[in-house]
Amino acid sequence: MDIPKLQIGTITADVPIVQGGMGVKVSLSSLASAVANAGGIGTIASVGMGDIRATRQDYEAVSSEAMAEEIRKAKTATDGHIAVNVMSVLSNAEALIHTCVEEGIKMIVVGAGLPLKLPAMVEDTSVNLVPIVSSARAATLILRTWQKRYGRTAQAVVLEGPLAGGHLGFSLEELARAEDFSLERLVPELLEALKPFEDAFGVKIPLIAAGGIYTGQDIARMLSLGAAGVQMATRFVCTRECGVSDAFKQAYLEASEEDIVIIKSPVGIPGRAVRNRFLDRLDSGEPIPINCPYKCLSTCKIYDSRYCIAHALLSAYDGDMENGLVFAGSNVSRMHEIVSVKDLMATLLDELRAA
Ligand SMILES: Cc1cc2nc3c(=O)[nH]c(=O)nc-3n(C[C@H](O)[C@H](O)[C@H](O)COP(=O)(O)O)c2cc1C
Repeated sequence: MDIPKLQIGTITADVPIVQGGMGVKVSLSSLASAVANAGGIGTIASVGMGDIRATRQDYEAVSSEAMAEEIRKAKTATDGHIAVNVMSVLSNAEALIHTCVEEGIKMIVVGAGLPLKLPAMVEDTSVNLVPIVSSARAATLILRTWQKRYGRTAQAVVLEGPLAGGHLGFSLEELARAEDFSLERLVPELLEALKPFEDAFGVKIPLIAAGGIYTGQDIARMLSLGAAGVQMATRFVCTRECGVSDAFKQAYLEASEEDIVIIKSPVGIPGRAVRNRFLDRLDSGEPIPINCPYKCLSTCKIYDSRYCIAHALLSAYDGDMENGLVFAGSNVSRMHEIVSVKDLMATLLDELRAA
């Protein structure tokens, strides 16, 4: 089997694999450029850029500066395709998006909320806009709004199912019956929902499937359903190029199936994480000190929350598991070794060819 290329507007990747954006600081330039060098699309996550503990009132400027620096580093490390992931709920989303465009990023992936105003923030139509959705309904709402207000459409849509890591676009009740929302069910629904927009704009809107994709066989299954590519995140954490602490990677390598839990994040939506000392402290009711010098998430009700999620994710990145929240996808317990991105991509492609 020839490996199909992945075309997203003005971008053509040799390999139909997008490395999903992972914050805080899990996917920065080192990981993203390694994926891009292997023919996929590498994504820098924009949440929590810069020294978020120190910056206080300069938060927005410091984050944008750190974002620009990360993009420049990635560009010196690869000629391949680099995307940036921005969460809609970030209070500095617009500033980050402007920085990405100024730095020449050609693919902006936006999740965690409905990015209804995204085209207004990106006038340059050579920049490919890619919303993340968890249902055909959400995609229709976004694309109808973009069509009516801006006469534009998406260059691809990422469909994130309930097995993904990090924040999830499903309620606790929906996650309890995740099989009802399997990618096998959602992909055909979304393909159908994209058709009217493909017809109206005379373009193909590729669907990128995400959440629980682990092997080349999984990728083949998604392609056979009609997806143009996949987005994978968890699998890329245990690579040499991923810049998280050794303790973060060790938490992945040691996680058993029972350790994978759904938490209720301070953002107000569920998330998937690995049980650790920090989650045990929360469960025991121990008060966790909160110090919020800036409101990084527009939906965060920090003083109704048990903890600051930005601080918890940054602590995990640093390796402080007393205070660290380790986000991970549902397949984390299958990971047993740290490999290079090059070897991981080669394995996935061998499996995909064989499948
Ligand atoms: C550690 C971690 C952090 C994540 N952070 C983000 C993020 O900042 N923004 C986002 O849109 N998605 C985030 N995600 C979701 C991934 O980009 C991806 O879509 C999803 O995890 C895919 O499922 P998989 O991990 O099973 O491959 C995160 C996932 C993980 C595991």
